[in-house]
Amino acid sequence: MSGAGSKKVAVVAGDGIGPEVIESALAVLDGAGAKFERVPVEIGLARWKRTGLAMAEEDLAALKECDCILFGAISTPPDPNYESVLLRIRKELDLYANIRPFQSQDLDFIIVRENTEGLYSGLEEVGVEESRTLRVITRRGSQRIAEIACDLAIARRKLTIIHKSNALKSDCLFLETCRAVAVRRGVPYEDMLVDAAAYNLVINPKRFDVLVTTNLFGDILSDEAAGVIGSLGLCSSANLGSDHALFEPIHGSAPDIAGKGIANPVGAIRSAAMMMQWLGEPKKARLIEAAVQKALACGAKTPDLGGKCRTREVTEAVVDCMEIF
Ligand code: NAD
Ligand code: IPM
Ligand code: MN
Repeated sequence: MSGAGSKKVAVVAGDGIGPEVIESALAVLDGAGAKFERVPVEIGLARWKRTGLAMAEEDLAALKECDCILFGAISTPPDPNYESVLLRIRKELDLYANIRPFQSQDLDFIIVRENTEGLYSGLEEVGVEESRTLRVITRRGSQRIAEIACDLAIARRKLTIIHKSNALKSDCLFLETCRAVAVRRGVPYEDMLVDAAAYNLVINPKRFDVLVTTNLFGDILSDEAAGVIGSLGLCSSANLGSDHALFEPIHGSAPDIAGKGIANPVGAIRSAAMMMQWLGEPKKARLIEAAVQKALACGAKTPDLGGKCRTREVTEAVVDCMEIF
C-alpha cells in the first residue's frame, strides 16, 4: 500500500460522546502526521431527530466509497421498528470480523467476534404475545471468522473457541467448523462454554490469548473484558470485511457523561491507531499506541480510570508524548 496520503476516510462522529472522542482521535492523528482526506458523514440519533432518518442511502454510498471509516458512537432511535444503523452498516459492508484487542499492564488478549450473523441475523418476528429472533450460524460465516482468528493466533499462543453447544444446536456447527480450521492451520486451540468463559475472564484473564466467538457472546464478553482491563473507555476495535473496514471504540454514546468533557478518548485514539495499521502506516500506529501507554503511565487519566483529567487534557498528553518519541 502506498501510505495513507491519498486515502479517503469517512468520519462518523455520531451522538453523545462520539463527537468528543472523535475530535481527540483526529487531533492525535494530526499530531502523528497522518495525511488523509476526511469525509464527514452525519449518521445517528441527532440526524434522525433533525430529518426523521438516521442514515440515508447516500450516506451508505459515501461510506462504501471511502477507503475506510472512523466511527465514534451512535444512539439508536427509540423506535422498535428501527434497525440499528451500525448493524446495517456492518451487514451492508459485510464487515464480518470484529477484532477487539484488550491490553493493560499485565493483560493482552483479543476477542474475535463474528459480526454479521448469529442472533444479529435480523430475522425477527415481533408479536404482542410472542416475539422471535432466529439465530443463524453458517459454515461459511464460522469458517471465515475462524480463519481471521487463526491468522492472529498463529503468531501468538493459542485460540479459545467460545460457544454454547451444550444448549444451542447451532453452536455445534460453529464449534466443529472452528476446530477444523484450527487443526488445518496448526493452531493450538481449546474450546470453552460461554458461561465458563465469562467466569474465567474475571478470575483468570491471563489464561486467554485469542478468543473466537459468535456475535452476541462477543458483544457481551467484550464489555466484560473492558471491565477487567479497567474501563470501556480504553478499548478499540476494527470491523473488517474483504472490501471495507470500520474502526471504532467499543463503547457506546454514553449519554450519562455526554457533553461534560470527561469521556475517555483512549478507545477512539487506539481505534485510530488500528486504522493507521490497516492503511499501511504501521510506524504511525505504533507511535500512537506507545504515546497512549506513556500518557496513561504518566497519570493522564479521565474519571472512569480514577483520574481527574478531562478529555482534552488526555488528548494533549498523548500528542505531547508523541513529540517526545
Ligand atoms: P455505553 O457504552 O454508552 O456506556 C456504558 C457505561 O460506560 C456508561 O456508564 C458510560 O458513561 C461508560 N463509558 C462508555 N464509554 C466511556 C468513555 N469513553 N469514557 C468514560 N466512560 C465511558 O453503553 P450504554 O449506556 O448501554 O448505551 C448508550 C447508547 O449507546 C445506546 O443507545 C446504545 O445502543 C449505544 N451504543 C452504541 C454503540 C456504537 O455506536 N458503537 C456501542 C454500544 C452502545
Ligand atoms: C457494539 C454495540 C452494538 C452491538 C450495538 C450498538 C448494536 O454494542 O458494537 O458492541 O451490539 O454490536
Ligand atoms: Mn457492545
